Amino acid sequence: MMRRMEISFDFDTVHDRRGTDSLKWNRYRDRDVIPMWVADMDFRSPQPVVEALHRRVEQGIFGYASPPPELVQVVVATMWEKYRWKIEPSWLVWLPGVVPALNVVCQAYGGQGDEVVTFTPVYPPFLTAPPRGTKVLRTIPLRRESNLYTFDAERLEREISSRTRILLLCNPHNPVGRRYEREEIERIAQIGVAHDLVICSDEIHCDLILDGGSHVPTATLGAEIAARTITLMAPSKTFNIPGLNCAFAIIENPELRTKFKKVREGLVPGTNVLGYTACLAAYRDGEPWRAALIDYLRDNKEIVRRFIHDEVAPLSMDDVQATYLAWIDTRALGLPKPARFFEQFGVALFDGREFQGEGFVRLNFACPRSILAEALQRLRRAVESLAKPSGRDAEVPL
Ligand SMILES: Cc1ncc(COP(=O)(O)O)c(C=O)c1O
Repeated sequence: MMRRMEISFDFDTVHDRRGTDSLKWNRYRDRDVIPMWVADMDFRSPQPVVEALHRRVEQGIFGYASPPPELVQVVVATMWEKYRWKIEPSWLVWLPGVVPALNVVCQAYGGQGDEVVTFTPVYPPFLTAPPRGTKVLRTIPLRRESNLYTFDAERLEREISSRTRILLLCNPHNPVGRRYEREEIERIAQIGVAHDLVICSDEIHCDLILDGGSHVPTATLGAEIAARTITLMAPSKTFNIPGLNCAFAIIENPELRTKFKKVREGLVPGTNVLGYTACLAAYRDGEPWRAALIDYLRDNKEIVRRFIHDEVAPLSMDDVQATYLAWIDTRALGLPKPARFFEQFGVALFDGREFQGEGFVRLNFACPRSILAEALQRLRRAVESLAKPSGRDAEVPL
């Protein structure tokens, strides 16, 4: 079937990122290893973004930046169009990344030794930000229901103590690929209301929904929830511009916003001129590209899913409702260090241990299909080597 994106957009071309400034590719620059660990994509950003950057660079003046008024308007309009969420420009706090914001949140609210709760497995900065902010981290394993992960509300109720101050949510959830339904978030957020928690909702992957469903921002679930929620978003994942350092928080409650700004002052800068330029072009002009990207990622996801289910039986994975990250269960192989094992066969994955997901690996499938196909063949060879006695001898499982 001929698809829209195959006519207009090209995600198939392989761009050689070896020997560039790419964090993802540089780790293996002298080795034949396909990097599928860190979460950026091997696609060029949308042409309007590239052109806007060219124009901005051509001006040749790179002074201190403030957010372009048009960008603020575009974000306000986007929140309304997508979520019927009426935000005010003053609620926006511009940032160089979502991770600094997670750290600011963990410093800003509550005192030393107070607690932060979050659901695991989860993106590692959720685990490191609380202790860095002198808080005690309490983790609650996600529960599995009908082959998908979900929040364990009962356990959350049990884990919350008189010292719990902050709830960190990741929706869509890296690494498990969940796009939580309204009722799931509502239930958890109401617990946050009942216990007077600050809710920090990292929604950086909200424009990468693959299953046709809708993203529900936590702060849209009612006034009481909105008043305690800090929403974190960015164009970086969706439009492949994480190296340009542009993100924002939406904080309705002026008290929470003032505290947030105070803690970041002098430590966390705003974003930079090129980040703002790219962000504006992406949100204003990048939608056709994004729609095509979603089609491409959805097909890549299906390729990975079918491969894992049909061809490397000991491995398994759930559907990826959102993100471009597959969370693969390798426990049946009994490998103490699964990512190290697959790396020997030429594929670099993130080890689940870093997410508090022992025995899992995270695979980033946002790459041209030819690279994906090669990577999957390497995974197959790795798994097959374990089945063959000679293979076992040749490759010591790590
Ligand atoms: C849930 C989540 N939050 C934040 C980030 C990174 O944020 P930033 O690069 O804006 O600091 C990622 C990157 O993978 C992520 O998955």
